Amino acid sequence: MTKLLMRALAGETLPTPPIWMMRQAGRYLPEYRATREKAGDFLSLCYNPELAAEVTLQPIRRFGFDAAILFADILLVPQALGADLWFVTGEGPRLSTITGEDDFAKLGGVDDIHDTLGPVYETVSILSRELPSETALIGFAGAPWTVATYMVAGRGTPDQGPAHALKDTNRDLFIRLIDRITEATIEYLSRQVAAGAETVKIFDSWAGSLKGQDFDDFALAPTKRIISELKDRHPGLPIIAFPREAGERYIGFHKATGADCVAVDNSVSAEWVAANVQVDGCVQGNLASSHMVTGGQALVDEAQAITRALRGGPHIFNLGHGITPDADPDNVAKMIDAVRSA
Ligand code: CP3
Repeated sequence: MTKLLMRALAGETLPTPPIWMMRQAGRYLPEYRATREKAGDFLSLCYNPELAAEVTLQPIRRFGFDAAILFADILLVPQALGADLWFVTGEGPRLSTITGEDDFAKLGGVDDIHDTLGPVYETVSILSRELPSETALIGFAGAPWTVATYMVAGRGTPDQGPAHALKDTNRDLFIRLIDRITEATIEYLSRQVAAGAETVKIFDSWAGSLKGQDFDDFALAPTKRIISELKDRHPGLPIIAFPREAGERYIGFHKATGADCVAVDNSVSAEWVAANVQVDGCVQGNLASSHMVTGGQALVDEAQAITRALRGGPHIFNLGHGITPDADPDNVAKMIDAVRSA
């Protein structure tokens, strides 16, 4: 029997959508916090295959999600390319910056990334052995634009200003940076698939800050290149793309990139998604993650409204963005019941 998530990705309209949640392995779970403590810190957890597999499995055991997502981070690719990376507790990631030619020249080549990323492939292979037979395994990477925003600025930024500035003042260098990340991402995802990932998701968290031709050049084009190369190497591999806050640019995103599924954030309504995006294929989303904090009847009503609005085509139920550390695990169970009884 084919896994529910794989059926939705293949374009099947199902009576009940498969369910998983972005950041489902995370700080809102006491068992995650305990394992992270054991690992020492977040990055040590990412590079410890046994413990990374353990935290990936925790939400599957607790909630019975239809898919598990590899536990890692999109910023491991810059680190594998030679950037310094560390996490400041309570603040987020910090990296060495890329402001000009000299910084770019210090980066390593694509062939060298696997020394650093080897433990991630090991996590995938442990998971492909240990997951329940009905649970699909999702690999992932950041999209080149989103990864570049962190590599250029050395941290998360509200408006991705430093990456826009480099793009606009030294386009040639910026394109070479995007190409380097794109090539590394292809190799990274290809290894995840070889190790047992059944689908991969490309997270373009900051796609919404690209407008007009820049959206075509830096959100669509690199994603399209990654998808087409992966599908050449792994025929039949389904791929999920998440150009977060793309708004009107969600329209046509399946066709423009070759993605099998387009994940949508909660700034667009499920009705709009059904009429404008699901017409081209599977969609994933899009409950506001704040409901995982506030719960109550509003959570049930909204989860069921989304499920019903997207019932006419292939749909994977998810949040519009990652679950936050202040979420209540009981609300997650409540969401799953609501969707399955809608
Ligand atoms: O979804 C999953 O459960 C899989 C694992 C995963 C993580 N990060 C674990 C993580 C995935 C898919 C990501 C993606 C990621 N990482 C993105 C794209 C998606 C998005 O959220 O927009 C981005 C931009 C990052 C970079 C990153 N990693 C930031 C900005 C932060 C700090 C923010 C925060 O929540 O603290 C992280 C840390 C991070 N990545 C955590 C987790 C579980 C929290 C770290 C901890 O345990 O302290």
